[in-house]
Amino acid sequence: KVILRADYQPPAYWIDTVELAFDLDPGKTRVLNRMKVRRNPDVTAQPLRLDGEELNLARVLVNGQGTSFKLEDSQLVLENLPEGHEPFDLEIFTTCAPAKNTKLMGLYVSNDSFFTQCEAEGFRRITYFLDRPDVMASYTVTLRADKARYPVLLSNGNLVEQGALEDGRHFAKWVDPFRKPSYLFALVAGQLVCREQRIAARNGKEHLLQVYVRPGDLDKTEHAMNSLMASVAWDEARFKLPLDLERFMIVATSDFNMGAMENKGLNIFNTKYVLANQATATDTDYSNIESVVGHEYFHNWTGNRVTCRDWFQLSLKEGLTVFRDQEFSQDLAGADSARAVKRIEDVRVLRTAQFPEDAGPMAHPVRPDQYLEINNFYTVTVYEKGAEVVRMMQTLVGREGFAKGMSLYFERHDGHAVTCDDFVQAIADANPESPLAQKLDQFKRWYSQAGTPRLKAAGHFDPVSGIYSLALSQSCAPTPGQAEKLPFVIPIALGLLDANGNELTTGMHVLTDATETLTFPGLTAAPVPSLLRGFSAPVVLDYLYTDTELLTLLAHDADPFNRWEAGQRLATQRALGHIRNESVAPADIRLDHAFIEAMRVILRSDKLDAAFKELVLTLPAETYIAEQLDVVDPQRIHAVREAMREQLAQALFSDWAWAFEAHSENGAYSPDAVSSGRRALAGLALTHLCLAARSSGDSVWPGKALQRFKDASNMTDRFNALAALVTSGHALAAQALQRFHAMFKDEALVLDKWFALQAGAPDRGGNILPVVKQLMNHADFTLRNPNRARSVIFSYCSGNPGAFHRADAAGYVYWSDRVIELDTVNPQVAARLARALDRWKKLAEPLRGAAREAIARVAAKPDLSNDVREVVSRALAD
Ligand code: ARG
Ligand code: ZN
Repeated sequence: KVILRADYQPPAYWIDTVELAFDLDPGKTRVLNRMKVRRNPDVTAQPLRLDGEELNLARVLVNGQGTSFKLEDSQLVLENLPEGHEPFDLEIFTTCAPAKNTKLMGLYVSNDSFFTQCEAEGFRRITYFLDRPDVMASYTVTLRADKARYPVLLSNGNLVEQGALEDGRHFAKWVDPFRKPSYLFALVAGQLVCREQRIAARNGKEHLLQVYVRPGDLDKTEHAMNSLMASVAWDEARFKLPLDLERFMIVATSDFNMGAMENKGLNIFNTKYVLANQATATDTDYSNIESVVGHEYFHNWTGNRVTCRDWFQLSLKEGLTVFRDQEFSQDLAGADSARAVKRIEDVRVLRTAQFPEDAGPMAHPVRPDQYLEINNFYTVTVYEKGAEVVRMMQTLVGREGFAKGMSLYFERHDGHAVTCDDFVQAIADANPESPLAQKLDQFKRWYSQAGTPRLKAAGHFDPVSGIYSLALSQSCAPTPGQAEKLPFVIPIALGLLDANGNELTTGMHVLTDATETLTFPGLTAAPVPSLLRGFSAPVVLDYLYTDTELLTLLAHDADPFNRWEAGQRLATQRALGHIRNESVAPADIRLDHAFIEAMRVILRSDKLDAAFKELVLTLPAETYIAEQLDVVDPQRIHAVREAMREQLAQALFSDWAWAFEAHSENGAYSPDAVSSGRRALAGLALTHLCLAARSSGDSVWPGKALQRFKDASNMTDRFNALAALVTSGHALAAQALQRFHAMFKDEALVLDKWFALQAGAPDRGGNILPVVKQLMNHADFTLRNPNRARSVIFSYCSGNPGAFHRADAAGYVYWSDRVIELDTVNPQVAARLARALDRWKKLAEPLRGAAREAIARVAAKPDLSNDVREVVSRALAD
């Protein structure tokens, strides 16, 4: 059952054209599929094996005649096909049941509308097909449905015909001018309304942009449309990649497994990444929408025009497109400081989610070598680490060199299904003198070797010669199936500062050997090294920084990323010290004067942006701290981090009060980087002020938080105020929560926030698990809707380690029940949840044993999906 990258074979047949006709009916949809098929002359003659899943087969015709066929484990096998290489007609008639499709793969119903999700292997749930990305065909699609119930009928490409049919039905015919793999097919049918925008095209004509939503949501589409227009303009400007379609549509659905999908000309989105107005969406929602709209739009070139040969190459399109959406958001943010904020946020995701993945049982290379279920490999490694690999290429060839490489990539591969090697080769060939070209084979280890490299650096200053030497070494721990690792190509952006924080030198070193020593002559004293500026490579940097060095970097480094990083290191060192020193109870932890003062200086600075201050003043996440430890006690990590927060709250009390007042304003709402940064800092301040009130018993600030909650003119301020009350555990939280629910009971995405806030709240005496169980009994809860399931179950199991890792193991039992329950409804979502215990081997006993037992309980369930089976069996493997 395991699929190996090494087993790739080109397809034995090509499918040139597909004509699909749908009679849409929730209970039984009829699908007529007429293909032009021919044998691949490069492959020895063999039967045609078409993929199909949960289909009812009614008819197979070859050149209009009945033919013999077999059904072999979900494949339709045709042996008596015309010989020779001439195309023949293959007609297949099947039915499927969209209303019963709870997996949300293939054709399904959501709120009485039809949607599809075909990536990676969902098209086979619609019709029999060569459901693999290297088979590219031209599609013509006819949709027929009841006109009153499904007035809007959409598919890829251009609408060429529409009209009425008998019995109140109607039809629409769509032709996609581009050949595409089946995973990019889409259809939508239902009662939808749209916002439209016409923009000028290169050829003097116009493009029509549309955002489709349910009636009532039209007032939440402006930001998505703005983001789409900005995406079109950005890809033209930065990479000279134009929109190649007359019509580009985005459709939102509330039932969706992932974020969004780049179907050619008809992107389908989770509502979470489309709908926003100031009353219902936070600044984070606005910025996520911008980057997801950008991401899917950018796929039109990186993914659709040039696609993947096989699914092992997934990062070819995903790593590259994440890199592109990150660059897009940075470019839109504008100012250097705002770009740095975006970079820090991206690195935070990488380090809190991807580094643990790379160190756990599901570790895999950016280009995996094997899988049981491809859906399990839509991971932070393939996406975010993949993006870092592309970013390193840009670093090694320069921004212009990278743009040249992209042009060569499209020159060579437009219209084709290719590999990660093809991409790197194009970037290198366009920059033959670059370190990338010179170390190409070695660089490619980023694609083949899993695991996070560790970069060790140690400095030595010789006062006699005035030479500072920096000894560098790299290593990478074994990962499943990869015991030995060879050295990586690691671009290290660095600078040296003097003790006063003045920059002495700056540069870039490309580390390729296991160990190397750099020397810097002409110095009068030991410098402070600022290493891996801008996080120039996805590695762990081991350098034994002293507090003095870190304080210098925090105060002066010209690289904002490393300024932030210095603050995080100061905080991490303190957290780790307190976690390890079990003789001191968390409540008795005392933070040192130097750290508190450094934080105060940042908070009060009149030169730094609010957004940057908010990042510095936010302590490292519990999951990040956990990764720094060999044995993990999540409750202690939580307790120590909370104690540190409360101390910062008290020690900086008047500074927080100042920050809150100075960053609260009532002007018109705008989600731009500056205003959202101010709201973020005000929110952080309010949380600390409420935390401080917790220990003092004072209720002034909780009262102010409640007032802010009631008066807020936007969701960011309102939600931050609510979160401050909930996080600090104040008695006023209950009434605010109740009021919030009453205000937004008809706004599904806001209710998700309401559920998530409660399931993710700090545990006080084991109170969260009962809350979570209660929330699941709430009338608004349903396991069927992935967003809602995530808002409660994932917020608890993955987002709230202090509450989940209970000594009585009740959290794990809850987890295993939910994985088992979800697996019968939606295996993809279940498999994501299954990963919440990925790092169980690091847990301190008795948690470790209890976690193992819970995983084994899931593994023992009969008829487990491939999705969950792959995750739990890898977790249990040694
Ligand atoms: N290609 C989509 C994106 O990154 C993700 C779709 C993944 N869907 C899935 N069922 N695995 O934008
Ligand atoms: Zn993508």
